[in-house]
Amino acid sequence: MPVYERHVFVCTRGEWCPSVDGDGLGVHAALKSAVRSTDLGGRVRVNHSGCFSQCGNGPMVVVYPDGVWYAAVTPADAAEIVESHLLAGRPVERLRYDPPEFGSHQLEREADGRPIGRTAPWPARGEG
Ligand code: FES
Repeated sequence: MPVYERHVFVCTRGEWCPSVDGDGLGVHAALKSAVRSTDLGGRVRVNHSGCFSQCGNGPMVVVYPDGVWYAAVTPADAAEIVESHLLAGRPVERLRYDPPEFGSHQLEREADGRPIGRTAPWPARGEG
């Protein structure tokens, strides 16, 4: 028997997701809070994670055992991830990460840190 029904990992320890490419720490806190507001508490675990080597596309979130990856997640997306994916089993398609290949996919950066090729909005440092 698995220890948890689902395990949600949020990149909060990498160089970029926690505060440069978005608010990874806020995403983690919002997901924890949203899970706590449901009856999923004992079945779904939300954990901090180190870098997933997808830097520039984040904040990154991955849900196992589904193997569903989300990119450019904001704290405001947490409730939808919990309600749609974790409660109803329907991944949030608009947030799905679709990498071009297996493995590391770190975007190059402009001089100001902006990831080159990022399609999602990028909050400049300090804009959250
Ligand atoms: S810093 Fe989050 S994927 Fe690298």
